[in-house]
Amino acid sequence: MSCEDGPAPAASTGDAASPALERFSLYEISVAAAYAAYERFRTLYAVAHSESFGGHFILTRHRDVKSAARDWQRFSSAQGVDLPKNATRTTVIASDPPLHDELRALDQEVLNPKTIEALRPYVVSQAHRLVDGFAATGSCDLVADFCEQLPPALICRIVGLDEDLAFEMRQVSIALGDSFDDPERHAAALEEFRGFVLPQIEKRRASPRDDFLTRLANEPFRGAPIEDESIVQTMIGFLLAGHESTTAAMSSLFFHLLSRRELASAVVADDRLLSAAIEETLRLDTPFHQFRRTTTCPVEIDENELPAGSDVLVNYAAANRDPAVFERPDEFLLGRRRNPHLAFGFGVHTCVGAPLARMELRVAVPELLRRLPDLELAVDAAEVEWEFLGGNLAFIRSLPARFTAERGRRQVSRHVAGRRLPPT
Ligand code: HEM
Repeated sequence: MSCEDGPAPAASTGDAASPALERFSLYEISVAAAYAAYERFRTLYAVAHSESFGGHFILTRHRDVKSAARDWQRFSSAQGVDLPKNATRTTVIASDPPLHDELRALDQEVLNPKTIEALRPYVVSQAHRLVDGFAATGSCDLVADFCEQLPPALICRIVGLDEDLAFEMRQVSIALGDSFDDPERHAAALEEFRGFVLPQIEKRRASPRDDFLTRLANEPFRGAPIEDESIVQTMIGFLLAGHESTTAAMSSLFFHLLSRRELASAVVADDRLLSAAIEETLRLDTPFHQFRRTTTCPVEIDENELPAGSDVLVNYAAANRDPAVFERPDEFLLGRRRNPHLAFGFGVHTCVGAPLARMELRVAVPELLRRLPDLELAVDAAEVEWEFLGGNLAFIRSLPARFTAERGRRQVSRHVAGRRLPPT
């Protein structure tokens, strides 16, 4: 459907009256409070409205979120997908077809089934390398010692950054993701990110290698050289979106498996069970809660008129707990016959890194569990909480665990970057 067809209803079931205007920002509340608010929104309104950030609409029902995410003609990404808004440059995530499709094809040069499969042995070796670092101690923090280490190493490898840059890459990426609500801090973080990436581009021009950065730095796109700024933006897509999300998902997966200890043992031997646990984790603890769209023409959802130019949040986390689609939506259930979660989005912007993230989870997590067969949480599961990074990404900060120390193994603290990250 296009705007020429005039205002037309987006999908919904039709019991909602006009939304109440209220203040609502994920920067101000906990993840648990966010889920409670989504439930209220879903029940009361087809479309909620918040005065925060200049006023925006929020979609929380599975049908509406899916329908808006699919409808890029009327719910455009070309003006950016963050809220609050930042100076938007055209990137794969902040563009509409047909340009979007070309930019996505560029990403898929390194994010395709063949390249992802080829990375499997590297993930296995990294998992063991990380476990080697703490196996002799009998304890670890699964987040700091494993989940925060492996995805950055992998992303560096994919784009062609040397492994010893993983720590710095993580720091500059997190600073960027954590500053969306503060234009001054965000501008400084972007400068820092540029300062990290631009010398790498220069190096590839001076002395080309066989890697993705070299391809971006030296080969044309649509018949013209790729500008440095576009390469920086592409790197943001990979380095920021590509590692912190997977770190969050991996931490949540460990949490759910170890909260039901017998499940942790079972998934090691049962691939289908492992897949079900991964998908249920992504549904229940959706890493990125929401992304912005801008309406290109008036849109009606039930009795709600969304004027052209409205900011609309498609809230994937809320949709993933919609009782109209998921029975007992707040529970971790492995027996679901269908799990049509939207944790990787939907439509043309469906996460291009999803196959990579799934491979990392499927390979790294059982590898660690096999190595430490009596691993258990060293904290009460009820005390573990999720926090927001940058008012959007829900993550667990720490997950202390214990296990029988591997005897005869010298403690070799050889984390990806040789250092742990300070808390964000
Ligand atoms: C568990 C891990 C991940 C989650 C939950 C996740 C989630 C998402 C979501 C929800 C979107 C859709 C955004 C929208 O609707 O506007 C998206 C898009 C995207 N993701 Fe991921 N992501 C993950 C991992 C990755 C990885 C590993 C990479 C890169 C290596 C990546 C790169 C991207 C890019 C470039 C897009 C934009 C795609 C497009 O616009 O066509 N993501 N991701």
